[in-house]
Amino acid sequence: MLRKTISFKTLGCRLNLYETDALASKFREKGFMTDDDFENSDAEIFVINTCTITNQSDKKSREYINRAIKKGSFVVVTGCMAEQYAKKYLPYSAQVIVVDNKHKNLVYEIVEAHLGGEIVDMKNLDGDVFGFEAAKETFHTRSIVKIQDGCNNFCSYCIVPYVRGRAVSRPVEDILNNIKTELTFGFKEIVLTGVNISKYNYEGVGFEELIRKILEIDGDFRLRIASIEPDDFSDSFVDLFRNPKLAPHIHLCLQSGSNSVLKRMHRHYTREDFMVIVDKFRSIIPNFNVTTDIIVGLPGETDEDFNQTLDVAQRIGFGHIHAFKYSRRSGTLADKMDCQIDEKIKNQRSKILRDLSEQLSADYQKNFVGKHQRILTETIEDDGFVYGYGENYVRIKMKIFDGVKTNKFYDVEIIGIEGGELIGKQLN
Ligand code: 5AD
Ligand code: SF4
Repeated sequence: MLRKTISFKTLGCRLNLYETDALASKFREKGFMTDDDFENSDAEIFVINTCTITNQSDKKSREYINRAIKKGSFVVVTGCMAEQYAKKYLPYSAQVIVVDNKHKNLVYEIVEAHLGGEIVDMKNLDGDVFGFEAAKETFHTRSIVKIQDGCNNFCSYCIVPYVRGRAVSRPVEDILNNIKTELTFGFKEIVLTGVNISKYNYEGVGFEELIRKILEIDGDFRLRIASIEPDDFSDSFVDLFRNPKLAPHIHLCLQSGSNSVLKRMHRHYTREDFMVIVDKFRSIIPNFNVTTDIIVGLPGETDEDFNQTLDVAQRIGFGHIHAFKYSRRSGTLADKMDCQIDEKIKNQRSKILRDLSEQLSADYQKNFVGKHQRILTETIEDDGFVYGYGENYVRIKMKIFDGVKTNKFYDVEIIGIEGGELIGKQLN
């Protein structure tokens, strides 16, 4: 029998990437061919794992759904946009099936049933937001591991708590087993992910304790904590970063550097608190990389508020800023606020912030010239170079040498910067 091909398109966050990887791996195991090359794929089945964080994400998700439908394939629509809007936008058809977040882990079973001619009623299926198996192969070098889902914060602008639900934590043993399995598959870097991971708590085991347990796992791997909310990080938590297995980098979401905007965002810290947290990490590791998300144009954000954001960003020297233009999400508190900001002003602020981000990234890179990093190689390119990331999440390029492989650690000395890239020289 000819093997069927299934193609995956993932929009949005790392959680979606993790869930896509796990689903694709399952399809592969069951004999399907998989790809993530939407443009060129003529797969019989497409899975569009959507995002609804902003209007733009909705729009992109819709575009991919429509294009997949036009290709004439069977289309599975899942993810946060499906949760919110798909039922409204998509007329019932035999060509499209919508799988809500609760049943996302069952996409394989749902597709199989569909191919067998069954009409699947989601109500009769028991979904599990942690019911994904460890992925043997993924669409990238690092292995993403989900430890938590959902959020109870209800920041005034954010739709996530409505589409991913309340915070839930994955059992400790499942996480440890997932990571051990990924290491036996050959992955060298594990990225922990969730919606609000510092709130991890499973039967009394909190985030810090979980990290400690993961670091105790044998093997030559490194652990990266991806996106995290500012929290009361204890000294003992910060001390964990002395362990070379724990990458000196966090993506710590600032959102705004103005205290009055933070208040209206329902974020429970001040600009000063945020800077104290960053100082704490940098007192242990001076070049600790802090990257962030910032929203410009929350209703009522003044020029002065925006300048405060620029000021904090400069003081901290973020390694990278992901700038978002505020987008109205119906059902959220900010959507009902007065003084929505003109799109033109949002565009201007976003441009200024993106320019600052580029400048700060370039400044941050300069810290590494003459220093050592441990690159995890990702791609070997035709231009004669190997590319990958160091432990600080800085991209490094180095000349191809005899025997060089991808997905391998090499100690490198950074010998310069060329065309905005750190140049590494192999040491071992
Ligand atoms: N508009 C713009 N950006 C948003 N984010 C969340 N909600 C919105 C919104 N309504 C951004 C935040 C968050 C990131 C994942 O998306 O910066 O950290
Ligand atoms: Fe959204 Fe705030 Fe929860 Fe992050 S912490 S997912 S921004 S509500």
